[in-house]
Amino acid sequence: MTIQENVPLAPLTTLQVGGAARYYAELRREDEVREAAQFATRRDLPLFVLGGGSNLVIADSGWPGLVLKIAIGGITCPRPNDAPGNAVLFSVGAGVNWDDFVAHAVVQNCAGVECLSGIPGSVGGTPVQNVGAYGQEVADTIESVRALDLKDDRIVVLPKPACGFRYRSSIFNGAARGRYIILQVNFRLRRGGAPSLKYADLQKHFAERLVQETTPPSLAETREAVRAIRRTKGMLIVRGDDDCRSAGSFFKNPVLGEGQFQDLAARAASKALEIPSYPALDAQHKVSAAWLVEHSGFSKGYAAGAAGISHKHALALINRGDAKANDIIGLKDAIQRGVQDAWGILLEPEPVFVGFDVNAP
Ligand code: EPU
Repeated sequence: MTIQENVPLAPLTTLQVGGAARYYAELRREDEVREAAQFATRRDLPLFVLGGGSNLVIADSGWPGLVLKIAIGGITCPRPNDAPGNAVLFSVGAGVNWDDFVAHAVVQNCAGVECLSGIPGSVGGTPVQNVGAYGQEVADTIESVRALDLKDDRIVVLPKPACGFRYRSSIFNGAARGRYIILQVNFRLRRGGAPSLKYADLQKHFAERLVQETTPPSLAETREAVRAIRRTKGMLIVRGDDDCRSAGSFFKNPVLGEGQFQDLAARAASKALEIPSYPALDAQHKVSAAWLVEHSGFSKGYAAGAAGISHKHALALINRGDAKANDIIGLKDAIQRGVQDAWGILLEPEPVFVGFDVNAP
């Protein structure tokens, strides 16, 4: 295990802002992760675990402690010859590129993650915020998470119920934040299962075939459809496309109780508008953050110096070239104020903020 010093972090993230790590180590094995964590404990250094860097805003001052880049690879599938319809358990190293795993699962004709195609980042990052898109979330298929428990310095396997999954949250970014380093994720997929086509964008994409009821879309076709849809929204990393210098969705979709939702809907109706909304848990309503942003004076393609909003999706804040973290934070603050003033809702940021005085500015 090699520990490097003063390593710039911006190039390791998709948003490409922020300063350097005081110490940095790239770790390919579980014992190296443990050794690195002990190095940090001995020197009393704050630890930060980096995966694919696709959901991070790094502060311009960087990270004063040790950054661990988890590069544990490997996809194992213990029963490769399962019959169609059977559950198949995949054990995937935290450092595996997420989309490579999805591609692998689809090639193996295993259903459960096909709608999560084209999401940037590493496998180990996906349980943290319970990554979701196009009608699936990783919590639907996660069987367990293998992690280093920093509290007791031992490796544990947390079964799904212990992970506390909710919309964009889990114990890993909630109650037990900072306690575990994810080493491996175990997924239960279904061999020969049908693709999930619940989401409106996908139904639209396959409209003709779904109506004619000829051959239903395959897992591979669903994967390609999701990637195509993501590309149109700037949510697929395409080299040379400035709209991709982002951290994905910058705000969560607000989940409102009945009263607050009715107030909002009435407010919109008084302006002859209708806000896109979806049923959420416990009779709540999830409303579109992108719509709120666009109806508060911030359009797609909005520019604020070196920071801006993607031309393809109002929820993606982008680095237009040489933005500092502070430019991004300035735009985030302006959008939050704008939406609060126009609609009385405080948008909650979605990415992880690293090295800022407060954890979630
Ligand atoms: N909309 C707008 N303006 C836009 C984009 C969308 O008004 O610029 C409205 C549309 O009416 C649309 C609705 O918002 O029907 C929802 O938009 P979309 O389907 O693009 O999904 P989203 O809610 O904005 C969420 C996730 C994405 C995920 C997509 C697809 C969150 C915060 N974001 O976005 O996840 O890819 O659904 O399922 O839940 C991420 O978390 O980083 C992320 C990219």
